[in-house]
Amino acid sequence: MIRFDFNTYVDKFIDKDKYNLLMSRKEEIIEKLNHSNMTGWRKEIDSKLIEDINNTAKYIKDNYDCLVVIGIGGSFLGSYAFDNIFRKYFNDDKYEIIYAGTTLSSKYLDELISYLNNKNFCINVISKSGTTMETTITYKILKDLLKRKYPDDYNKRIIATTDKEKGLLRKEVENEGYKSFIIPDDIGGRYSFITPAHLLPLSLNYNLNEIVSGYYHGRRLIDNAYQYAVIRKMLFDENRQVENFCVNEQNFHYFTEWLKQLFGETEGKERVGILPISCIHTRDLHSLGQFIQDGNKIVFETYIKVKKSHNYIEYNGRELNDISNIVEQSVMIAHYKGDVPCIEINIEELTPYNIANLIYFFQLSASFSAYLFGVEPFNQPGVEIYKQEVKEALS
Ligand code: PA5
Repeated sequence: MIRFDFNTYVDKFIDKDKYNLLMSRKEEIIEKLNHSNMTGWRKEIDSKLIEDINNTAKYIKDNYDCLVVIGIGGSFLGSYAFDNIFRKYFNDDKYEIIYAGTTLSSKYLDELISYLNNKNFCINVISKSGTTMETTITYKILKDLLKRKYPDDYNKRIIATTDKEKGLLRKEVENEGYKSFIIPDDIGGRYSFITPAHLLPLSLNYNLNEIVSGYYHGRRLIDNAYQYAVIRKMLFDENRQVENFCVNEQNFHYFTEWLKQLFGETEGKERVGILPISCIHTRDLHSLGQFIQDGNKIVFETYIKVKKSHNYIEYNGRELNDISNIVEQSVMIAHYKGDVPCIEINIEELTPYNIANLIYFFQLSASFSAYLFGVEPFNQPGVEIYKQEVKEALS
C-alpha cells in the first residue's frame, strides 16, 4: 500500500484559490492524455508476451552465467533502478546482470572486456531507435568479443529489443536471426517500463506477474497522480524551481536517477520545468542538507519512505529501522520549519508489487505535469540537439 501526504508539510505554501483552479482542470488534462498517441504504457500487456519473456529468461539462465544489458536512458534505467532496490548490499545471490552502454570510458570497457573474457555471457541490446551512439559503440565492441569467443553460435547469444521495423538493429535482427523483442511505437523510452526493454532483464530475478499487477494497480492512483502534479506546479509558480527527491536507503539511488530522467525529460522544455535533484539520507544531510535547510529557498522536497524493514537490527533496545524513520520525520519537520515544502510518499513495505505501483504513479503524474506546464510530455527535443552536434563533430 502507498499513502500520500500532500498536506501536512505543504499546506502553508499553497494558495487555496489557485489550487482549486488547477484541480478543476483535471478532466481537461486527463482528456489530453487520453488523446495522446504515446500512451501505450497505459494499455494492458499481452500475456503471450509475458510467456515469451519468461521462456527467454529460462533459456538465458539455463545456458549462460551472466547477461550484459546494453542501453542508455529509458532503455535501461527502469529495470536497473528496480533491480538495484532489491539487490543485497553484500553477497548478492541474484542472477548476474551487467548494465553497460552508458559510458564511453575506455577504462570501463577495457575492464569489462577482461572480465567477460572469463565469463560465459550473452547480450541484450536495447535501443528503440537502434541508432543511439553509446549503445551502438558498446554493442559493437562486445559483439566482436562474442564473435571471437563463440564464432559458431554468437548469434544465439544476442537478444535485441528494438523498434518493430525501423532502425539498423531491426535490420541486423533479420539478417542474423537473433531472438528479438519489440518496443511498441506508442511507448517512448522513459515510459517503457512495461515493455520487454525492462521486463526481460527483470524476469531473470523477479516474478513478472507480481510486477505487472503492481504496475497496473497504479491506475487507481490517478487522483493522487494529478494532485501531485498540481502541488508541484503550484510550488514551481511560487519560485520553487528545484525538486529534491529524498530517500533513506542507498539502494534507491538509481530509482532517484530514474525519477530525474522521467521528470527532467518530460517537463524540462521550452524554458520551463522543475529541476529534479536527489539526496540519500542521512549521508547528504551532511552536505546538501545545509543548503536545503538554510540556503536559497528554491527547493521543495518529495520524500519516498518505506515503513517496514525486512531486516532486524537492535540498537540500545530499539529497532534501528524505527530510529531511521524517526530521523527522517525529524528532518522533514526541520526543513519545513526552514520554509521548505515537503511532500510525503509512504510505502508500507518494500515489495516488487509496490515499486511497480509507484512507477506507474510517477509516469502518470509526470505526463499530467507536462500538460500543466503546457509542454508535450513524450518528446525530448533538447537531447536531439547534442546528438546532432556529436554527429557533426565525429563525421
Ligand atoms: O526517454 C527517452 O526516450 C530517452 O531517454 C531514450 O530512452 C534514450 O535516449 C535511448 O534511446 P534509444 O532507446 O532509442 O536508444
